[in-house]
Amino acid sequence: MFDYKHSVIYQIWPRSFFDSSHDGIGDIQGIIRKLPYLKKLGVDAIWICPLYQSPNDDYGYDISDYYSINPEYGTMADLTELIHKAKDAGLQIIMDLVANHTSTKHKWFQEALKDPSSPYRDYYYFREGRNGQPPNNWLSFFGTSAWTKAEGNMYYLNLYAETQADLNWNNPAVRIAIQNIMNFYLDMGVSGFRMDTINTIDKKEGLPDKNPDKEGLQFADDYITDRENVRVWLKEINEKVLQPHDAFALGEGIMVTPEKVIEYTKPSHHELNMMFQFDLITLGYGELGKYDCRRLYHYSHADFKRITRLWQTQMLKNDGYIGNYLSNHDHQRSLNHFGDVHLYRSRSAKMLALYNFALYGTPFIYQGEEIAMVNPHLKESDWKDYECLHSCQAMTSILGIPPFIAKILSSLVTRDNSRTPVQWNASANAGFTDAKPWMMVNPDYQKWNVEQQMNDPESVWNFYHRCIEIRRSHEALCTGDFQEILADHPSVLAFYRTDEKEKLLIIINLSKMPASIHLPAMQGSDILSNCPSVKLKEHMHLKPYEAHLFLIH
Ligand code: GLC
Repeated sequence: MFDYKHSVIYQIWPRSFFDSSHDGIGDIQGIIRKLPYLKKLGVDAIWICPLYQSPNDDYGYDISDYYSINPEYGTMADLTELIHKAKDAGLQIIMDLVANHTSTKHKWFQEALKDPSSPYRDYYYFREGRNGQPPNNWLSFFGTSAWTKAEGNMYYLNLYAETQADLNWNNPAVRIAIQNIMNFYLDMGVSGFRMDTINTIDKKEGLPDKNPDKEGLQFADDYITDRENVRVWLKEINEKVLQPHDAFALGEGIMVTPEKVIEYTKPSHHELNMMFQFDLITLGYGELGKYDCRRLYHYSHADFKRITRLWQTQMLKNDGYIGNYLSNHDHQRSLNHFGDVHLYRSRSAKMLALYNFALYGTPFIYQGEEIAMVNPHLKESDWKDYECLHSCQAMTSILGIPPFIAKILSSLVTRDNSRTPVQWNASANAGFTDAKPWMMVNPDYQKWNVEQQMNDPESVWNFYHRCIEIRRSHEALCTGDFQEILADHPSVLAFYRTDEKEKLLIIINLSKMPASIHLPAMQGSDILSNCPSVKLKEHMHLKPYEAHLFLIH
C-alpha cells in the first residue's frame, strides 16, 4: 500500500478539470495532460471523482454501469493509460466507489422494476406505501422524501436523489457484486478507493419511522448512519478485496463522530485506512445540513478551534486516522467559508493551507484551491446541482424561508460554487476548454490562474508547493503529537507538533481582525509564513489571518 500518512492527495472533479476533446467538458485525457502539473505541485496521489457511465443527475454519483466509462470523459483505454502514466510519474490513483446506491438507469434497477420476481428486486429496498403515503417518514439528504414511487403503491428507498436507489447490502449478492467491481479496478492498477457515503450502507431493521410523534419528514440520522453491519461488511471487503491487493480505502463518513472514525480506521480492526469527517466543513450549518440556514451560516473561531482540538487529540490518542480537507465538490470554496475573498484573499488562502498541512492526518487539496479559487457569483439560472435545485425548495417547504431569500442563500452554499472550471491561464475560458464550457467560468480568471501563479514566487500556488515540501521534510508534521496552547484565545489557534526529533510551533490567526498573543519564552526559526517572517517572541501582534510555522530550537 502507498504510504498514505506521508502523502498529499489532490482531488479531481473531472468534469471541470481540463478539457482535451474540445467539447467543453473535462475528461481523462485532460487529466493525463496535467499529470506533469500535479507532479510539479508535488502531490503523491490523485482521488478522481466518479468517471463511470452515468446519466449525470448527480454528476457521476449516480452510476448506471460500473464497468464502463462515461463517454464524455473517455474510454476504458483512456483510464488504463491514465493509470499507467500516473504510476510512471509516481502518482497513485484513487477511484471513487459509489456503492450506497446506483442510478435507477442501472440494469439491476431496471430489471428489478420490470419484474417483481427478478432476483434484482432484492438488490434494492422496495416497500409498500402506507395509505397512499411513502413507507416511512425519512427525509433524503437532498430535502425530499427518501422514497420514490416505483409503480402502484410500491416505493423504493433513495437517501439521495430520486434517481439514486439505495442498494440493499443485506443481500450477499449485492456485496459480491460490489467486491467484483473493486477487484476489477484494483486489477487494472488503481491504488484504492474513496468510498462514497460508506457509513450509510446499513439501515435500521424494519425501516421504522423516525420520531413517529412528529409531523412531516424527519432526518433519519442514527437510523441510517453507522449501523452495526457497516463494520461487518467493511471487514468482509477488507479481507476479500483490500488485503489481497494491499489496497487503500478511505471512507466518507456522513456526520461521523471521532469514536466511530476510530472504530473504522484503527489498523487492528481491518476496515478502512482513513476517513473524512464533516464537523469542520459543516461549521455554520443548521442541524439539517447546508441548506438549513437557521444559524445564518455564522460560526465562531472558538468552534473552529474546538473541532480541530477534538479530532486531533482523539485520532492521535486512539489510533484513528482522517484525511483533512477544507473544501471539496460538495461544499462551497474554502476561502468563502473560512477566509476572506476581498481584502486578504492570498493571505487567508495561505493561512488555510498552512493549517491543513500542519495537522495530523493526510492533507487533501481540492482542484483550484492551490490558486485560491473562490465562489463565482451565481444566479439561479447558473445552478446545475440537483442538491441545490431541490434543497432550495425545501428551505421554503420545511423551514418556511421565503422563496426569494431561499434563492439568495442557496447561491451562497450550492455545490455549484466549487464546480466551476479550473482556471489554467488568462486565455479564453481560463484555458480550460476551447469550446463552450459546460459551466460558467469564474470571471476572475484573468487575474487568478495557474500560469500566473506558478510564475509568481509569492503566490498561493508557490505557498502550497512549499507546504508540501515542508511536510515532507518534517516528520513531526505527519506523525508527531499535537499539543494545543492558547486554548482560550478567541481567534488564534496555536499548537505544537512534536516527535522525538523535533518540535514545531504553529500559530494561526483565524480572524480578519488583528490579534495579540502571549507565549512561553522559547527560541525558534520561522520556516513557513504567509506574512514577512518574524522573530518568535513572548508578545506577538498578528495581522489579520497571519500564520507561522516555527521550528523550535
Ligand atoms: C457523497 C458525494 C456527493 C454525492 C452523494 C451521493 O456525499 O460526495 O457528491 O452527491 O455522496 O452519492
